[in-house]
Amino acid sequence: MTGLALKGAISDHELEVLAEGGIVIENNLILATGNFDELKSEYPEADIQLLKGNHVCLPGFVDAHTHICFGGSRAKDYAMRNAGKSYLEIAHAGGGIWDTVTETRKASIEELTKNTIKRANRHLNNGTTTLEVKSGYGLTIDEELKMLRAIKEANEKALPELIATCLAAHMLPKDFKGSEKEYLKMISEELFPVLKEENLTHRIDAFIEQSAFSADDIQAYFTKASELDFDITVHADQFSTNGSKVAVDHKAISADHLEASTDTEIELLANSDTIAVALPGASIGLGYNFTPARKLLDAGAALAIASDHNPGSAPMGDLLTQASILGTFEKLTNAEVLAGITFRAAAALKLEDRGKLEAGLLADLAVFHSDNYQDILYNQGNLKPCMIWKNGELVFDRHKAP
Ligand code: NIG
Ligand code: FE
Repeated sequence: MTGLALKGAISDHELEVLAEGGIVIENNLILATGNFDELKSEYPEADIQLLKGNHVCLPGFVDAHTHICFGGSRAKDYAMRNAGKSYLEIAHAGGGIWDTVTETRKASIEELTKNTIKRANRHLNNGTTTLEVKSGYGLTIDEELKMLRAIKEANEKALPELIATCLAAHMLPKDFKGSEKEYLKMISEELFPVLKEENLTHRIDAFIEQSAFSADDIQAYFTKASELDFDITVHADQFSTNGSKVAVDHKAISADHLEASTDTEIELLANSDTIAVALPGASIGLGYNFTPARKLLDAGAALAIASDHNPGSAPMGDLLTQASILGTFEKLTNAEVLAGITFRAAAALKLEDRGKLEAGLLADLAVFHSDNYQDILYNQGNLKPCMIWKNGELVFDRHKAP
């Protein structure tokens, strides 16, 4: 991925494939990459681990958008949708996000922590070494804190690094007595300071949608978040437009979803520093159109791809499968898909220390048994990594997995 641009289309010719390659790791960082024999003579003291047979090594994947901290299941919603009900119809009938809020509130912090670790480690086995995790199924001060404390605790024990985001603005909780603006005012005044005090997150997200919050509702909330130095990210243009304009106006790090974005929103994002995040898992889970990834890239946007793993719209949670499928429907090059789940995804989390195999970056590696990097997307997620390194440590070896 070295030398590839953050924004715009990338052709596969730009990918640098290093044959007979080696990586020198010191502590948690990549010290050097290059030809194996040359590295061997340059670092004679190195403790060598030679991988026998053909392998392809990629930077560990970054999944920049998930909701893996939750209680309950929404298998019933999925069946109802497939029987003809829409996502919004189910939400209006009391299912949807609110159902998961009810189940998450019932769960203890220990249960949430345990489930989050389990799901995060499953992502690791599929190559993801960094995973964003949102709150947003608590929707009171205490319940949002419970979720964010569970995510913080899970981060200490899970193998991938977890980056927490506060999504208290997921929907207006049905049991809140007041307007959208009153709810958001309460959250910003009472929750934001505790997030800082307990160092629970530096990221604030909001769902801009007819069933959630309007651009007008969110104005004061995001202004307050920026004043307090939080990074902003937005669930934007999933079913209707508006969200990406909010994202760009508030200098959000990323605008995620974008399935409903038109040329106007695409232009807006392409001319901004906001990363566009496609969530093919939600399109697959809902049977809905994909984010116009090709158009975004051609317009010059930075495109990341994330799983959106959540119990409702994206229950699969397999980033590589979903990114491969997005590539086939949207006609994305291998380089664009791989960039979308590595360094461009890292940029969607404002992380500059990972996502490429480059000296000075974290030694987060996903290794596949193959002699051709194209095999990875060709197998559409069914070729799993055989080894994973996180922070310079071998944390998963499929040959030894139970
Ligand atoms: O990103 N769009 C809103 N939020 C989630 C879905 C959450 C849920 O359905 O539980 C999403 O798709
Ligand atoms: Fe989401």
